[in-house]
Amino acid sequence: MDLQTAIKERRSIHDFQPQELERGLMKHIFSQASWAPNHRMKEPWNITVFQEEAKLDYADAVLDSYVRNGFFEGYENGKINSMKKGIRDFLISIPHHALVYLEKDKDSHKFEEDYAAVCAYIQNVQLLAWEEGVGTLWTTSPYLNDPLFAEDLGLPPSKYKLAAVLQMGYPKKVPKFKPRSPIEEKCTFVHRSWKK
Ligand SMILES: Cc1cc2nc3c(=O)[nH]c(=O)nc-3n(C[C@H](O)[C@H](O)[C@H](O)COP(=O)(O)O)c2cc1C
Repeated sequence: MDLQTAIKERRSIHDFQPQELERGLMKHIFSQASWAPNHRMKEPWNITVFQEEAKLDYADAVLDSYVRNGFFEGYENGKINSMKKGIRDFLISIPHHALVYLEKDKDSHKFEEDYAAVCAYIQNVQLLAWEEGVGTLWTTSPYLNDPLFAEDLGLPPSKYKLAAVLQMGYPKKVPKFKPRSPIEEKCTFVHRSWKK
């Protein structure tokens, strides 16, 4: 697949087949994505993939965070239980949840650079996956900013930023593309001094 096709035809996937990806394929995707640009060669990305039985604990951590954030407030118990079951079943139905995280640099500029590099890494993962027929969804749900969620996953929030969870698997359905704006609306070429 050529680069332009991968960039243009990749879609965010919301509906996955139950089949798991082979470990070798996931390693290929995660290792080739490491060619992402990164300042000072810090390669700041780290990945933990929750799958199989680990998805149960992952779903519990997500639900506990939803409770802390007041997501279920105002509903009666029966409704809360059915909402929780729906969310748990949905999360468990996704073959892999790849948490991408980085160490927090105390220097805010370096931290921004590291986060930018991790985002470049994530897009590489998405494109490499697409090339292999694998779908991804880049998610940044509020629980990624919940310190107790990070604790639950064994990542001290004082040390780590949770950048994203990539949901991964073979697509069941590929959504229709969402058109992009003409670049003229966003890009300006400056070729004369603007100080006169
Ligand atoms: C930083 C970031 C966070 C995102 N978070 C979510 C999310 O939490 N849930 C979701 O459904 N999609 C999320 N997306 C995916 C976007 O909604 C998606 O890229 C956009 O709708 C364009 O669709 P496409 O990727 O199929 O072209 C996120 C994308 C980015 C870059």
